[in-house]
Order: sequence, then C-alpha cells, then structure tokens
Amino acid sequence: MNNELPGDHPELTHGIRQVLYTEEQIRGRVAELGQAISRDYAGQNPLVIGVLKGVLFFMADLLRELTVPAEVDFIAVSSYSAEAREHGMVRLMKDLEAPIAGRHILFIEDVIDTGLTLNYLLQNLRARRPASLEVCVLFDKSSSRLLDIPIKYKGFDLPPYFVVGYGLDFREKYRNLPFVGLLSPEVFQNSKKD
Ligand code: PRP
Repeated sequence: MNNELPGDHPELTHGIRQVLYTEEQIRGRVAELGQAISRDYAGQNPLVIGVLKGVLFFMADLLRELTVPAEVDFIAVSSYSAEAREHGMVRLMKDLEAPIAGRHILFIEDVIDTGLTLNYLLQNLRARRPASLEVCVLFDKSSSRLLDIPIKYKGFDLPPYFVVGYGLDFREKYRNLPFVGLLSPEVFQNSKKD
C-alpha cells in the first residue's frame, strides 16, 4: 500500500507531513464495516444517525456499502467551551427530524477522542427510548479517552496527534482530502500566533 504523500495537488496537501491511511485503505475498511453492519441488521430497517460535520464522507461511503434498507438523519453539536467540556456538556445545534422511540439506531461518528461528545449524545438518544442503539466510529484515538464507551463497530486506531482529511479538519480546512494524514506541527503552532 502506497502511503506516500500525493504530489499532484500541493495546494491541497500543503501542511500534511505524512499519509496515515490511504484512500484505498479507508475504502477497504469501510466496506468491511458495511458488511458487518449489513449482517447484523439483516431483516431490519435501521436509522443511521451521523454527527455533523466530520462524519460527512464516512457516512456517505458507509451507507452505500449497506445491503439493508436504511434511513438517515443528522445531529449537530457545537464545540464545547473549556468550562463546559469539563462537565462533558455539548450544545445541540441541530436535532433529529423525527422521534426514534422503538427504532434500531446506528450512531455514526468520524472520530472519538476524549469520548465526551459521544457520551453526551448517547445519553441524550437513550432517553428517547430507541429499540437498540449501537455505535460505529471510523477513527478511534483511544489513548485520549476519558470515558469508557462501548463501540460495536470500529474502523482504525489513530495516534494522539493532529490528523486531518476524510472529514477531519483543522480550522475547517483539509476535510476534502481523500486520505487521512498527519498535520505538520508548524501548521498548528503557527496558527496560535494568528
Ligand atoms: C469531532 C467528532 C466528535 C468529537 C469527538 O467533532 O466528530 O463529535 O470531535 O471528540 P471527543 O471524543 O473529544 O468529544 P468536531 O468538534 O471536530 O466537529 P466537526 O465534526 O464539525 O469537525
């Protein structure tokens, strides 16, 4: 597998130090996750819920790997302030469109870091009495975890560094990279001076 940084669009990859997972590696793992989920939800009509915005690419690709009929909804949360973060608080910016009581819910995240966002959202969703609620996360920064949360479907482990691409951003940039790469320290160190 070629983990070299593609050189054809330097303006797109500027500030990326190294490719961690290539487009092909991601596609392959997403297909495996899709197969596992399709097996587990055979005969069901799960509601797949994604958290905006980072989940965009993963959710679109995963949904196309499912061989069961699925419905889709989104939730959006604000980044928490330092104080709110200490209390595990997340502000809901966009709620689901419909009630989920009695539904089989597959909750999708692009990345889990501390686990605070996921913990808050799972509590919120559980209170709405779904028939089942499982989690699928593409990237797991397990070494940064503050809360232990059971994750049924997991894509890749990520090191505790700043990574971007395939939905993950740095100040809203790099989301549309087709691979996931390591951001050069100079990029975020320089940005502190902005
Ligand atoms: C990411 C991710 C999770 C959260 C995980 O969202 O989608 O929601 O961070 O972090 P945690 O485990 O430490 O709570 P982000 O705030 O980057 O927003 P985005 O999806 O719009 O990029």
